[in-house]
Amino acid sequence: MSTSPTLNSPHLTGKVAIVTGASRGIGEAIARTLAAAGAAVTVASRKQDDLAPVAAAISAAGGRAIAVAAHTGKAEDVQRLIARTIAEFGQVDILVNNAATNPYFGPMLDISDAQWDKTFEVNAKGYFMCAREVIRHLDGRKAPGSIVNVASVAGLRAAPFQGVYGMTKAAVISMTQTLATECGPRGIRVNAIAPGLIETRFAAAIVGNDSLRSHVVARTPLGRHGQPDEIAGAALYLCSDAASYVNGHVMVIDGGMTAT
Ligand SMILES: NC(=O)c1ccc[n+]([C@@H]2O[C@H](COP(=O)([O-])OP(=O)(O)OC[C@H]3O[C@@H](n4cnc5c(N)ncnc54)[C@H](OP(=O)(O)O)[C@@H]3O)[C@@H](O)[C@H]2O)c1
Repeated sequence: MSTSPTLNSPHLTGKVAIVTGASRGIGEAIARTLAAAGAAVTVASRKQDDLAPVAAAISAAGGRAIAVAAHTGKAEDVQRLIARTIAEFGQVDILVNNAATNPYFGPMLDISDAQWDKTFEVNAKGYFMCAREVIRHLDGRKAPGSIVNVASVAGLRAAPFQGVYGMTKAAVISMTQTLATECGPRGIRVNAIAPGLIETRFAAAIVGNDSLRSHVVARTPLGRHGQPDEIAGAALYLCSDAASYVNGHVMVIDGGMTAT
């Protein structure tokens, strides 16, 4: 008679993670979850005052965390973020690219050039620069690693009133698949998560608007929007050895909306 395998919760003991956009919302939930699973975590966003309480809460819960203010669209900030993490924790094994922006909500053709540039600077180039810096570090150590890019269902389908934002998320999915292909042979896995509507400050314009929220919820089989913790478990899975054969995958977490 065969015995069932023992299924343990994913753990990240001995691993070091960087989570961008971790001062609130989905990034904060991911950072807390990775830390609770044993990773030392660098939480990053632009504002130190918002990050410090997140790092403090992780430490108070028995984890290890530092807060590093960094604008992920700026190369010098990205380099400093990775260097500071290595100085503090000795290495980087995991990157969660999550910091994104959407400065414009409206018909696609009416976006200004400045808004276009800002959206691509943070959401596409920022993700790329963080990934490049971490992959170079992993290659220097000849170490395996895991990168998780937080994309969006807006990168998989038409995204009315969020068109250029949706373009950046499609770019993130493309980047995920190419990096997974190019870096997989070196043991570096690259995956993406595509959330649907999640209750954060970022989505407040939709969640807080009865008509817009009802429009999304009506198309969602689970009949509600999601919470940040409902993304964090997937990020933990993808970062951990539980996902050791998962590479180049886009995990949709949207209550079934895009399945319909
Ligand atoms: N909420 C949703 O419905 C939803 C759906 C699909 C995908 N997503 C994606 O989920 C991710 C997280 O979004 P969220 O909903 O959790 O948003 P959020 O609560 O507004 O958090 C965004 C985080 O990103 C940081 N950030 C923004 N610009 C930055 C920059 N230039 N450099 C560094 N950090 C920056 C913010 O801190 P500072 O402003 O202090 O820098 C904050 O920590 C994003 O990639 C978003 O596109 C969200």
